[in-house]
Amino acid sequence: DDFEGRGVWRYADALPLSEGVTAQEGATPLYEVPRLEESIGVQAVRIKHEGMNPTGSFKDRGMTVGVAVATELGVDRLACASTGNTSAALAAYGSRGGMETLVLLPAGKVAAGKVAQASLHGARILEVDGNFDACLDIVQDLAQQGEAYLLNSLNPFRLEGQKTIGLEILEAFREDYDAFPDRIVLPVGNAGNTAALYKAFRELVQAGALAESEVPKLTGVQAEGAAPMVEAVENGADEVRRWDDVETRATAIRIGNPVNAPKALPGIRETGGTAVAVSDAAITEAQRDLASEGVGVEPASAASVAGLRKLRAEGIVDDDERVACLTTGHLLKDPDAAAAAGSDPEPVPAETDGVLDHVQN
Ligand code: F0G
Repeated sequence: DDFEGRGVWRYADALPLSEGVTAQEGATPLYEVPRLEESIGVQAVRIKHEGMNPTGSFKDRGMTVGVAVATELGVDRLACASTGNTSAALAAYGSRGGMETLVLLPAGKVAAGKVAQASLHGARILEVDGNFDACLDIVQDLAQQGEAYLLNSLNPFRLEGQKTIGLEILEAFREDYDAFPDRIVLPVGNAGNTAALYKAFRELVQAGALAESEVPKLTGVQAEGAAPMVEAVENGADEVRRWDDVETRATAIRIGNPVNAPKALPGIRETGGTAVAVSDAAITEAQRDLASEGVGVEPASAASVAGLRKLRAEGIVDDDERVACLTTGHLLKDPDAAAAAGSDPEPVPAETDGVLDHVQN
């Protein structure tokens, strides 16, 4: 593939394979958002928009590696549990790799764009009468019984690919500010990205490319109705208590059992970061703020910006910090949430004077 050596695969030296099943993932934009920066009140805010990946979320970075490993292993059936984005990415990369894909989704809790993607890319969509955590329990059982190759973020090869988010952010900050970001704020569901970024930073420190003091503070954000990681960080606990009942408009992070917590909690602690919960109303507000600067994200993604705003207001984030916020999925993933947060269409007559009259009133 002529994409070899670009995007995620530019970092092949940091990955377990030299090439993947690729759809040209990675190399996503790092947007400036001056109005947001001003209103939050920090030295710099940049938006790493992972919604600009081929299937519209960061999951593509993990799948390009994970599906390639599955190919090497010669497995014929791939499976994942998903709040939506993982299923869309697995369906796309599985079909590129020529493999059968099974996706288990919590019935009625997955945004329309994501189901549409999984469907058209040819995954078998199994709607489970339970939440995401129940879906993941089942997929883990199937994998243990040898019935399918698991491509959730419990799969370490997925996280290898997702490390490149951190590598791209660090490179871009060094270029633009001649310094690494003080903090990276990201939405947390299963805490896969938190674990992946921490691994990337540790590897850079070990390689002598990053000083211990330069490691960005990993700062996780959850929705109030699904915040087991925040609870663990606030209590100084070593383990996360599974929440059985979770609810949030940000369906992508409607997760009560963050399976990567053992790898992610040390990342938050040892980088001097923290975790914070935000309300659905604050998430919607942040989604509007981003949209008003031309950056279209799904609700879960806006949680990062809502979290930064809250931590700045509480004085936990300093005004001299340079911060990268990760936005994990594209606006079009959840068109219903976007339409609900946006303005309504206005009916007008089919003639110019009537339209002008309407616009001027
Ligand atoms: N943001 C979006 C848009 C997501 O889809 C997810 C996870 C996260 C954040 C959380 O990332 O798990 O690394 O902490 N979505 C998974 C899925 C669960 O099935 O699509 P994490």
